[in-house]
Amino acid sequence: MKNELTNDILKVLYTEEEIRARVRELGAELSERFAGREPLFVGILKGSLIFLADLIRACPIRCDLEMMAVSSYENSTVSSGRVRINHDLQQDVRGRDLIIVEDILDSGNTLAFLQEYLKTKGAASITIVTLLDKPSGRRKAVTADYVGFTVPDAFVVGYGLDYAQFYRNLPCIGVLKPEIYEKQDRT
Ligand code: PRP
Repeated sequence: MKNELTNDILKVLYTEEEIRARVRELGAELSERFAGREPLFVGILKGSLIFLADLIRACPIRCDLEMMAVSSYENSTVSSGRVRINHDLQQDVRGRDLIIVEDILDSGNTLAFLQEYLKTKGAASITIVTLLDKPSGRRKAVTADYVGFTVPDAFVVGYGLDYAQFYRNLPCIGVLKPEIYEKQDRT
């Protein structure tokens, strides 16, 4: 369907239906592993918002939810390397089994930082779930425990992922036309 979002997409990588099916599988795996342990999901805003909302509904177990907001891209396609906490945990996580939910693992800067940070808060265990993994971008040694899809070296948007804060509401995941960010990154 053509609209002002899809016009900027070079290629759809994962359709709504493919994402839904994969999220269900991830939910089933997490539910089996964490049943009876009352894990705490830690969603990393803003990118994980849509994935998180679908993932927790695919996990019929007792669990609760925290949100953290961190940022390192500052309207560019390249990570600045500095991770800033814009919104922190609102409860003590000592002794808890944490499930970090991310939309994408790229350079690894964000998750390397969060793993260390949450360890210092006394978590009993930290499990990383990322919808997308882009191994070609990796600069820090971080591995996700659960990956939805492994993506190629392209700038992907949709289903929560943005470029300069736009495209998060695209229901599929697609590659952004390079002319969109080439034009913007020069300004
Ligand atoms: C994006 C994404 C991850 C991070 C991954 O966040 O949501 O948190 O980058 O990239 P990395 O592995 O290179 O650190 P961003 O800083 O763009 O904020 P957002 O979630 O609000 O879009």
